[in-house]
Amino acid sequence: MQIFPTISDMRAASRAVLHAGKRLGLVPTMGALHEGHLSLIRAAKSQCDAVAASIFVNPLQFGPNEDLAKYPRDFDRDCELLKKEGVDFLFAPSVEEMYPAGAVTHVTVEGLSDKLCGKSRPGHFRGVTTVVSKLFHIVEPDVAFFGQKDAAQLAIIRRMVRDLNFPVEIEACPIIRESDGLAMSSRNAYLNAQERKAALALYRALKRVQELFDQGERNAATLADAGKRVFKEEKSARLDYLEIVDPDSLEALTEVKKTALAAVAGFVGTTRLIDNVVLSGEENAFR
Ligand code: PAF
Repeated sequence: MQIFPTISDMRAASRAVLHAGKRLGLVPTMGALHEGHLSLIRAAKSQCDAVAASIFVNPLQFGPNEDLAKYPRDFDRDCELLKKEGVDFLFAPSVEEMYPAGAVTHVTVEGLSDKLCGKSRPGHFRGVTTVVSKLFHIVEPDVAFFGQKDAAQLAIIRRMVRDLNFPVEIEACPIIRESDGLAMSSRNAYLNAQERKAALALYRALKRVQELFDQGERNAATLADAGKRVFKEEKSARLDYLEIVDPDSLEALTEVKKTALAAVAGFVGTTRLIDNVVLSGEENAFR
């Protein structure tokens, strides 16, 4: 695996792949890799001739009181994992390389960026779309892989790609869960044993929503209220939101007609966690 800290070296390597007529996949990450990330790498390996991953803890997507400073970082371990998966290139720039002094240009997907996590994390999605645009310009992948766990991020990136005509396909990969249902996240590393148990409130709440949906309930408020009640049974967790929204526009729904996204965010101690399930006639993520 070749590791590139500079934009010019990364670009030279990816251009060589593209000029050879090969299909290049990109898996953008902030490191602290877990099985969820590795599932993205495996999807990329199965669909592409060459795979680039990036590790960059993007300061632009963290609010002033968020966990940028303590975000888990273990570059050597991440490199070992990526090497084992057969990743060809790792782009690992410094903050100065990505945001040189005087950088003032941002990418905002209006409207969508204020929904779900965007409400309680102002500026978060603007930070994500800005860095992902830069990664797309630097690496120029044919296809980029993102986890369904960040469903709002995925919808926002898809819209950005459509609106700005990025020549990249976006592939969504399923949520990877621990054996008890907790969605894998780099932030799970913050949880102590008691918080780890309490974190299951998110999964239990979504499971209740899924059950009611499977029984035929289509009223969004009824579905959301049932999920919130289950979440609130866990006294050590604090609900941020549980919403039933359109998976593309992220607009709140009153009734689920075709497909809906049931998305939840909550705090366990100081750790903010998210999870979601897609409600659709054809698919049950928990089965
Ligand atoms: O999902 C993430 O890990 C980050 O938001 C991303 C897409 C790598 C951008 O920093």
